[in-house]
Amino acid sequence: MSIKSPITLDAKYLAPNLTAEMVAERSVQVSACARNLREARCAGAEFTGWLSPAEILTSDENSRLNAKIAQLRKETDMLVVIGIGGSYLGSRAVIEALSDCPEQVVYAGQNISADYATKLIKQLSGKRVAINVISKSGTTTEPAVAFRLLKQLVPADKQSEWIVATTDANKGSLLKLAREMGCATFVVPDTIGGRYSVLSAVGLLPIGYAGVDIKALVQGAAECAKLCAGSDDPLKNPALFYAAARNVLYHQGYSTELLANFEPRLHTLAEWWKQLFGESEGKQNIGLFPAAVDFTTDLHSMGQYVQEGRRNLIESFVIIDGGEPDLTVPAWDVDADGMNYLAGKPISWVNQMAYEATAAAHRDGGVPNLTIHLAELSAASLGALMYMFEYACGVSCLMQGVNPFNQPGVEAYKLNMFKLLGKPGYEGGIAAVEAVEVKF
Ligand code: PA5
Repeated sequence: MSIKSPITLDAKYLAPNLTAEMVAERSVQVSACARNLREARCAGAEFTGWLSPAEILTSDENSRLNAKIAQLRKETDMLVVIGIGGSYLGSRAVIEALSDCPEQVVYAGQNISADYATKLIKQLSGKRVAINVISKSGTTTEPAVAFRLLKQLVPADKQSEWIVATTDANKGSLLKLAREMGCATFVVPDTIGGRYSVLSAVGLLPIGYAGVDIKALVQGAAECAKLCAGSDDPLKNPALFYAAARNVLYHQGYSTELLANFEPRLHTLAEWWKQLFGESEGKQNIGLFPAAVDFTTDLHSMGQYVQEGRRNLIESFVIIDGGEPDLTVPAWDVDADGMNYLAGKPISWVNQMAYEATAAAHRDGGVPNLTIHLAELSAASLGALMYMFEYACGVSCLMQGVNPFNQPGVEAYKLNMFKLLGKPGYEGGIAAVEAVEVKF
């Protein structure tokens, strides 16, 4: 079973747990969910603006965004992206996968660590620092605290030029603050939630600052959108096949999906994917738990569990087939380490063999797996892949009967935290529970 498209999907190691016939049996449900998503006749329909990547920014907004990126690249040394969740993971995923200078972009507001903030401030001292503070709600605690800490790094006479806020068009304290400071603002569209926002100004400003071709990224996603809309048959559409396969396997009792790569620069893509699927699908006590592994690194740690631990895992590999640097294993005159059998072989080929060996071994160990192949890693292919995941995620959620675009569960910790912090309006402590008494 193999589906051809700009992104190739190889499903041979899903058998025997999952066959083409099983996917075909789900085609009526999958097709209906895909149509409902595209035609915005589903739960959360008001948040489907991401479906048309090329239309997210108007041409005026696009020009303004590109002008701001050019100005910041020319006038500053470093960009701090302040945001959490969907407000930073997409841009960080793309920057770490594709940028030649990922170290010029740093991240804050994605944790509340005093140690992290202190070291970041030290790292940025003496640099010309730009800040892009990003929050759709404009009220999230973590980025708001980080902005208070880091704003001072931008000289007062440059703040209106080098600080940029990306937030709601009409409301929120960040918008008010940005207006008071006279900073440029970009919009998180009303129709797009955080984890689906990488191709809006939320992702594009930091990605463009890092020198990645944002036009190609959006075009790659737009091509994939055409492909996704082109067929509602899961045997002809990789996004729908992926959605159907993980759903069938979930209902067979598999409860965890591992996203596995063999390329360190895809690490944060997996973080973004975890948020996308975890926050979209994990509700009403259901959903595959999304986890990620970096191979071959984790083959020497998590590999044991994947091969022989509890059999509740499915695995999705993201593999880059070509375009890797031309580096070969050196030959040694004295073959002291016994590695001369690899002398002259490309490192990328050795890595490829490691992937093929792993996919087969995990299948034999009872981990059904599929592989998403990218011909090469480029802005266009990454844009396509991220769109494919977003589309598949929307369809997966609708198949499970949950709203892909809300995150009611995130409020629980916030409510308790606000009470503990004494935020006005949140008086009263956390509800008491019967405690387990232990004495050591
Ligand atoms: O996907 C989401 O909606 C969330 O992860 C948000 O992006 C995250 O909670 C940050 O919210 P905000 O952008 O409002 O600060």
